[in-house]
Amino acid sequence: MQYEHAHTLMLAEQEVFHFDMTTYEYEMIDRSLVPHAISRASGNLVYALRTWLQERAIQVNRSNKDKILKACGMSGAYDILTLITRYRALSLLDNYWIKGYDEDVRYADVNLYENSFSRAMYSVALYGAEGITIQGATPEINQRGTMAKAYKRTNGGIYLYKTGIADKIRTELFASKVAQYCDMSSVEYRNVHTKHSNCVRCRLETSTQIGWIPAKDITNSGRNPVELAKELSPQRYHEMRIFDYIAGNTDRHNENWAFEVDNRNRILGLSRMYDFDNCFCADDTTTSHIDLKPLKKAALQSFPVIGDTQYFTRLKAFLRSCRQRDLAAYVLERVRILEQSIS
Ligand SMILES: Nc1ncnc2c1ncn2[C@@H]1O[C@H](COP(=O)(O)OP(=O)(O)OP(=O)(O)O)[C@@H](O)[C@H]1O
Ligand SMILES: [Mg+2]
Repeated sequence: MQYEHAHTLMLAEQEVFHFDMTTYEYEMIDRSLVPHAISRASGNLVYALRTWLQERAIQVNRSNKDKILKACGMSGAYDILTLITRYRALSLLDNYWIKGYDEDVRYADVNLYENSFSRAMYSVALYGAEGITIQGATPEINQRGTMAKAYKRTNGGIYLYKTGIADKIRTELFASKVAQYCDMSSVEYRNVHTKHSNCVRCRLETSTQIGWIPAKDITNSGRNPVELAKELSPQRYHEMRIFDYIAGNTDRHNENWAFEVDNRNRILGLSRMYDFDNCFCADDTTTSHIDLKPLKKAALQSFPVIGDTQYFTRLKAFLRSCRQRDLAAYVLERVRILEQSIS
């Protein structure tokens, strides 16, 4: 392998493998640290890495995508791979990144959790502000999802802000309350009114020690994410199935549930639940993207495993007193069906 074009895939401060994207050659350093999604790649590993990098980066249908790229100095036809590598593939999703072969740089000095990133990009990514060119690092290139969103660091830590039509905001907030009143392990969405719009925000759950890998990556590693979730986090798994039914969540696709992973690449268990902007729209025939089971059937199977007659007591008190009668009635009816099933 010639090293002049070579890069190194890193996991925090550890070298994973050296690679050359022009010749597709690579030199393995530590196989146990290879991202799970490509650990069982059938073809060339560098090709698989390239696809993985592209799939964890900004989506074609992401709100404000063109403005984000423009702010990074890319307009018209762009090479997303160049963009990903220019920002070292750094993200706030996990602790993988890329450096030039033999480049003398430490994760401690570049990671986005502890080092600064562009504040100006926040307005571009969240509201589509124009005429801004950013300097320095940004987490927005290596970020998934379709809604307008942006990371912001405040005194209390890093938060993910999301905005969109009023109905989505209302949905995300109410579903978050539903999870909270059931004591489920979920990120907490709070309403924030800014100068430009109405947003929700939640605290970043990942860190320099803990990354998230979507269920999609577990599937790509040849494992069944449902079996893994039941084995590592049965409580969280059953909570998710109950939540998806009572909140009528139609959007639990394989990037909308994730596992936590440490910097030795060990999968620790399910992350908290997140992304509730497509709730309260399921009916009795709606199936889950997780396993194509009807939401209701999955919940009826999970409820007896972790639920009892008191399980929904706090939630019901909240639902009976809250002002959003339409959403409350939707959830109450579903709660009644689950309770009936164990009485
Ligand atoms: N609290 C959090 N901590 C860390 N990462 C998060 C958090 N919330 C979301 N993420 C990451 O950000 C991604 C995008 O967030 P989210 O799914 O809420 O956006 P979305 O635009 O609504 O997505 P979709 O396109 O699925 O509707 C998630 O897939 C997840 O990887
Ligand atoms: Mg999502």
